[in-house]
Amino acid sequence: MSSHQKLLTIKSISEKLLEICRVAEPDPQFSQEEIAQHKTPASCWLVAGGSVYDVTAYLQRHPGGANILLKRAGGPDCQQDLDFHRQQTRGIWKALKIGVLKPS
Ligand code: HEM
Repeated sequence: MSSHQKLLTIKSISEKLLEICRVAEPDPQFSQEEIAQHKTPASCWLVAGGSVYDVTAYLQRHPGGANILLKRAGGPDCQQDLDFHRQQTRGIWKALKIGVLKPS
């Protein structure tokens, strides 16, 4: 096995391990009360489909504008608003996800 092939094997094993760790680690849970405190440009969280997204860093980059996100910040669930977005956009949500809504 060449050193390049060895590196590729190590890379694929590390990726697999990271994947396993991610699955094993449960999503952090946030209560509705805690989420409700994050509705300003300094800290803006959205709830959609039971997932919690921290969109603070994304506010100024959002093609639909910051205000529309601020209006939905802190809950309630705005999954309907996310549904019309393009399929490719879903990758951004994944990156912004910080946890899930704690069941009440
Ligand atoms: C994690 C949350 C969100 C992300 C990452 C996001 C991202 C994006 C992206 C990439 C686009 C452009 C292309 C597309 O349609 O996919 C877009 C457009 C848009 N988004 Fe969002 N969005 C989010 C949440 C929301 C919410 C909650 C609303 C509320 C209604 C919203 C309203 C809009 C509107 C109206 C447009 C169209 C803008 C235009 O074409 O003029 N978005 N968003």
